Amino acid sequence: MANDGQLRSLLTPVLLGPVQLRNRVFVPGHTTNFGHRNEPTARLAAYHAERARGGVGLIITEAIRVHPTSAGRSISLGSFSDQVIPAYRAVTDAVHEHGARIFAQLMHAGRQANGDATRTAAWSSSPVPWAAGAHVPHAMGRQDIAVVVQAFAAAARRMHRAGFDGLEVHAGHGHLLQQFLSPHTNQRTDGYGGSLDNRLRLTREVLGAVRSATDLPIGLRVSADEFLPGGLDPDAVVEIVARLRADFPLSYVHVSHSAYHGSYSLATQMADMSFGHAPFRHHAARFKREFPDLPVLAVCRLDSLPEAAELIAAGEADLVGLARPHIADPHLVVKAVEGRQHEVRSCLACNQGCIGRLETSLPISCVVNPEVGAEREWRTAWDELDRSPGRRRVLVVGGGPAGLAAAVAARRAGHHVDLAEAGAALGGQLAIAAQVPGRERLDLLTRDLATQVHAAGVEVRLGWRPGVGEVLDGGYHDVVVATGSRPARRSLPGGPPVLDLWQAVTRLVAPPEAAQLAGTFVVIDDEGTWAAASVAEGIARRGGKVHLVSPTAGIAARITTYSRLALLKRLADLRVVAHPLRTVHPADATTVLLTGPLADADATIADVTAVIDAGAAVAVDDLFRDLDARIEGPTVHLVGDANAPRTALEAVYEGHLAGAFLGRHDTAAAELVSHAH
Ligand SMILES: Cc1cc2nc3c(=O)[nH]c(=O)nc-3n(C[C@H](O)[C@H](O)[C@H](O)COP(=O)(O)O)c2cc1C
Ligand code: SF4
Repeated sequence: MANDGQLRSLLTPVLLGPVQLRNRVFVPGHTTNFGHRNEPTARLAAYHAERARGGVGLIITEAIRVHPTSAGRSISLGSFSDQVIPAYRAVTDAVHEHGARIFAQLMHAGRQANGDATRTAAWSSSPVPWAAGAHVPHAMGRQDIAVVVQAFAAAARRMHRAGFDGLEVHAGHGHLLQQFLSPHTNQRTDGYGGSLDNRLRLTREVLGAVRSATDLPIGLRVSADEFLPGGLDPDAVVEIVARLRADFPLSYVHVSHSAYHGSYSLATQMADMSFGHAPFRHHAARFKREFPDLPVLAVCRLDSLPEAAELIAAGEADLVGLARPHIADPHLVVKAVEGRQHEVRSCLACNQGCIGRLETSLPISCVVNPEVGAEREWRTAWDELDRSPGRRRVLVVGGGPAGLAAAVAARRAGHHVDLAEAGAALGGQLAIAAQVPGRERLDLLTRDLATQVHAAGVEVRLGWRPGVGEVLDGGYHDVVVATGSRPARRSLPGGPPVLDLWQAVTRLVAPPEAAQLAGTFVVIDDEGTWAAASVAEGIARRGGKVHLVSPTAGIAARITTYSRLALLKRLADLRVVAHPLRTVHPADATTVLLTGPLADADATIADVTAVIDAGAAVAVDDLFRDLDARIEGPTVHLVGDANAPRTALEAVYEGHLAGAFLGRHDTAAAELVSHAH
């Protein structure tokens, strides 16, 4: 962790080309799905304004698609005509108003551009799809190439007119330019394929056209490693940057990694919590050594400003990028400047609310920050709540994420809040899930919410499970029931012993002193969530032989691709056997039968030590039912898993909403906020 001096130097002004930044922290480009007809919206402007207000030096926009063949969905950003300029101007104005600088990221996605909505073919260097089941792209002809080069130039001109301070040309993340640069994807035999100079030709033409179109500073985003056999590696990418620099005065190189390829490579881009802290910092360090005079931007799981400051202090980078941490907490910098580091809402690196929702064409959200995407509306709502604070007596029952979020919001809205937690510690199920190796960052949500709960002056009573009588005697106006859910445990009569998820974690996976596991374990994964996958991984790490059985067609189906591809590699390395489209039946005390709807699906697993039931959880809503049955008494609000078993994302969101608007569900602000999501 950085010392005060290191943090101070992170927060001192710096020059990026000709552009002065107020500090060395930037928000890397991240697609939000807040666009409309491929243009920025007021929602996007408010989103970036909040991060600018939070003190960051530089914001790099999400990928702005330069041509309709890269449009994807209409909720992504594009630059297809001059009509877009005013909408981008609104974004740059909103950011500049708060003292930050903003660069536009120019991109063509190439083969992974989703043409389903636009009915356009994806374009690429060669007809090689990015994943099994993906469309085969069109191998671009010379005219297509000229069109794309001109599209980059036109976009650069528009962004200049829209008030951007600079441009970032995207030659990384496996997008179109990388598809030409990489021998893994480029199979051409014309002047754009084969030798490195030929593979560089398109990027050179793009940089040349952008340079001629505007005198804005231009940075280049690259993937230092594709993690693919025969793909680009750091040596090759250093050479690429060296050759490009010789011809074009780059203002910086932004060193990321990955290819857009249906394998582990893609999962490195948004490295999740399983990767650990700053797993690719060595790439930026390498570029800094190779190009000491070129500003180097580092990124990926830098996690917090004190941790990121270490890279600057070590001379490994000039600027540090925190994308997801800024989704989680837009005010990272200002909190560090004001010595309020303990107030930071930490990103969990869970990939659930941000990239997970993006993948399903939903606007991004965040597990730990329920206000993402509704910054304007929440600001208005809190202004109103601050002007006329509530004065209700509130009891929150349950100290998991929903209850904690409700308690914090209710206190902020001016209420007196008591919180009852039946257990000996706060955290609820999250505290159990965080015991699984590789999932420890989940604990940060509890830690941060607990810090806020205590700082806000919530009266916390551990070991208290209030009954109806106590609730009624307490004279509360509102009761927020956040009592969570309990895991399923079906019986397999005559079959092997069955453990529920919590038992599996506490007995098999978590105990640090536990010996290596011997035996065979069958994990039933009905839902395709982390619950089953992480327990399967945890048991396998301990030496158990694991069979992961799911009635669905896929394994870990509800985990975002951007995490699943790394998970599948780990499960494969641990020799976990997957059985999709199968149901488990007991045979005898140590044997289960698998059946499925397809031919020859039946199988037997022998010598089974235990079956772990990771099936659907059951809401614990007794208190709600009892209170609900009474005609008189406090207003009852049911939130989180007690409402319906889901995930921490919904739990925090529901708790936050309930706590903020207690007794105010008729207000315009509450309506506005609900509709904004
Ligand atoms: C929701 C989401 C969308 C992203 N979209 C883009 C994008 O449009 N352009 C881009 O270059 N990188 C994109 N990225 C990658 C980020 O810029 C960054 O490299 C990655 O999130 C790792 O950094 P972090 O650990 O600070 O989040 C995206 C990341 C996320 C989480
Ligand atoms: S959803 Fe998870 S990974 Fe994404 S920003 Fe929020 S906490 Fe971080």
